[in-house]
Amino acid sequence: MQFHRRDFPQGFQFGVATSSYQIEGHAFGGAGQTHWDSFAATPGNVVRGEDGARACDHYHRWAEDLDLVAGLGADVYRFSTSWARVLPEGTGQPNPEGLDFYDRLVDGMLARGIKPAATLYHWELPQALADKGGWRNADMPDWFAEMTEVVMARIGDRVWSAAPINEPWCVGWLSHFDGAHAPGMRDIRATARAMHHVLVSHGRSIEVMRGLGMSNLGAVCNFEWAEPASDTPEDIAAATRYDAIYNRFFLGGLFRGDYPAEVLEGLAPHLPQGWQDDFATIRAPIDWLGVNYYTRKLIRHAEGAWPNYAEAPTRLPLTQMGWEIYPEGLRDILIRNARDYSGDLPIYVTENGMANPDRADRPDAERIAYLATHLDAVTAAIAAGAPVAGYFVWSLMDNYEWSLGYEKRFGLVHVDFDSLARTPKASYHALARWWRD
Ligand code: FCB
Repeated sequence: MQFHRRDFPQGFQFGVATSSYQIEGHAFGGAGQTHWDSFAATPGNVVRGEDGARACDHYHRWAEDLDLVAGLGADVYRFSTSWARVLPEGTGQPNPEGLDFYDRLVDGMLARGIKPAATLYHWELPQALADKGGWRNADMPDWFAEMTEVVMARIGDRVWSAAPINEPWCVGWLSHFDGAHAPGMRDIRATARAMHHVLVSHGRSIEVMRGLGMSNLGAVCNFEWAEPASDTPEDIAAATRYDAIYNRFFLGGLFRGDYPAEVLEGLAPHLPQGWQDDFATIRAPIDWLGVNYYTRKLIRHAEGAWPNYAEAPTRLPLTQMGWEIYPEGLRDILIRNARDYSGDLPIYVTENGMANPDRADRPDAERIAYLATHLDAVTAAIAAGAPVAGYFVWSLMDNYEWSLGYEKRFGLVHVDFDSLARTPKASYHALARWWRD
């Protein structure tokens, strides 16, 4: 399958994405402790106990990495700023080295003709704030507003776009209900609070950025296409609950000012007092919606406590993550999000890609096919009327895949984690050809 830039609407933006903790190396440049450091230091949480202390050493090798972005012919580079790097204690005294780093990085993108797409928070919560309850704490929106101000007062004049928070579902549910990400909690009350505070923090951050005169502001959420494993009413209800928690809760808050009934069934008793009054903040107008998409899940009913669902065995080929390859889900989620929530707002596919256990010298055929079929799904969504305006691959290079450590390789560029040598894979060269004309 071949693609050309001309197969997409005029002005369509192609890009690649990374995040700070996954690539920078948090041992460098005066960054503070993050809750990922303590999570990773706790046995059993992360494969081999790996952490982001060195990662890809992007902190020192950023210029080489931006050259790789430029070599792809990417229009946009989606990167994130680390809260713990700019405010090591979470609030108060900024770390000048941290701010200088993002300043250089943004200028480095502009010098190479790459548009900087900033995400303010991609999960490296300063430990000092985690110690105060992190996302459970109702002061979180104030702390987040302060961080937004500190970062964007410095780089906000030059970024092309900005989003406050990467994947609220992961910040809320995955980290506080499933316990799979830092802080590794399994507590329904913590979950309800985190899921609500993450949206209030988003809204406050948007207000701060508007106040600084910034534009092209959005929200980046993750989605999984969810289908019932069978057509029994129980499985159908379970898949609907899964879909509500994963795909509709955050969009409900952002675009409708309410939460789906299927989620309130379980979370309402645990939400903070007066949560209904926060929607004015949560609904601060945004300019685009970011959609991160990787896979579909088949869901079945499970006995026991709410939410009474479990993942059923998959039926399609899997990636190294064990995730089903299902490009139709990307097409359908883009169409549904536009129809039911975001309307005419531009949608960017802010992450899509696959992990593959590849070496630098392999043909990388699986990733090329994954990208081709998902780009095809984007064109199908556009043909069906979804206003998709860009597509960014996760990820520029192999990096720290959170609790799965360094062995899940999502990169277009291979990283040797001993020598830190970067080697573009065949998928990098394929995309560079597709994006050229
Ligand atoms: C997304 C995250 C990103 C990466 C990919 C594989 O959920 O935003 O950091 O881990 O999944």
